[in-house]
Amino acid sequence: MMNWILRNEGIVPRGRAHVDIDDRGHQFGDGIYEVIRVYGGIPFLMQPHLDRLRRSARAIGMALPWDDGALTVRCAELVAREALADGILYIQVTRGVCPRLQVFPPEDVLPQITAYARAMPRPRAETVDGLHARLVPDIRWLRCDIKSINLLPNMLARQTAKEHGCGEAIQHRDGTVTEGAFSNAYIVADGTVHTHPANNLILAGITRVHILRLCAGLGLPVVEEPFRVDDLRRAEEIFISSTASEVAPVIRLDGQPVGGGTPGTVTRRLQAAFSETLPKA
Ligand code: PDD
Repeated sequence: MMNWILRNEGIVPRGRAHVDIDDRGHQFGDGIYEVIRVYGGIPFLMQPHLDRLRRSARAIGMALPWDDGALTVRCAELVAREALADGILYIQVTRGVCPRLQVFPPEDVLPQITAYARAMPRPRAETVDGLHARLVPDIRWLRCDIKSINLLPNMLARQTAKEHGCGEAIQHRDGTVTEGAFSNAYIVADGTVHTHPANNLILAGITRVHILRLCAGLGLPVVEEPFRVDDLRRAEEIFISSTASEVAPVIRLDGQPVGGGTPGTVTRRLQAAFSETLPKA
């Protein structure tokens, strides 16, 4: 259930929240977003998500008219009103409402916020059993570091994966593995965790930063350098990470078993370490 929506005017009942036809998000996909996990009523890694929201805003030349304190308080209120235990907070900010204009609107047009809290169980099936992945070409633009609401290529990649019986797509740009459709991607080779560097070709996942810190704590070596499709196919383990999927083992790639075809030991160690860090209700 989702009964309340945060809009510029405050928190309103869902039925009273409407998107204007002239909203820049609606017209151009001119906006950014964040998805934050809530565990036992407590938002997880909230500040890094707000930091990234601000980075995305800056990257598209948009100022957020709310400070982090105001956003944090409003989000906590959404969680409380929904009596949410496990779920997500979704925050979207568009460049505001203005008759269709192919450049930035006049300065008096304020960004428009839409945020809500919604129940979503933890992803037990994919984290426990693992998931199948499909390799697809990365057809996105060159600013994948911006968490833009333009998710058409991501959604098309995930749809292709689904049509092949897979839960996630892993994308490659000319043979270099970038990331999942809605997740970051990792391989384990010779006991080392490899993942694409956080540059313009991937989204710097908040879960990714968290995992790399956990790797350091576990003494697991990490290499943040581009790796190839061949490395992916030869990997001992593959796993993905995201706010929604947490840390999930990929047990088949394009129908072929990864490693032994069951979740690997490094992935399991990281999952255990990840669970230890979650807020307790
Ligand atoms: N997606 N890469 C892409 C392309 C993503 O869309 C996401 C997250 C990630 C992982 O980022 P994080 O760890 O900060 O969630 C990487 C969210 C969950 C979504 O759109 O639902």
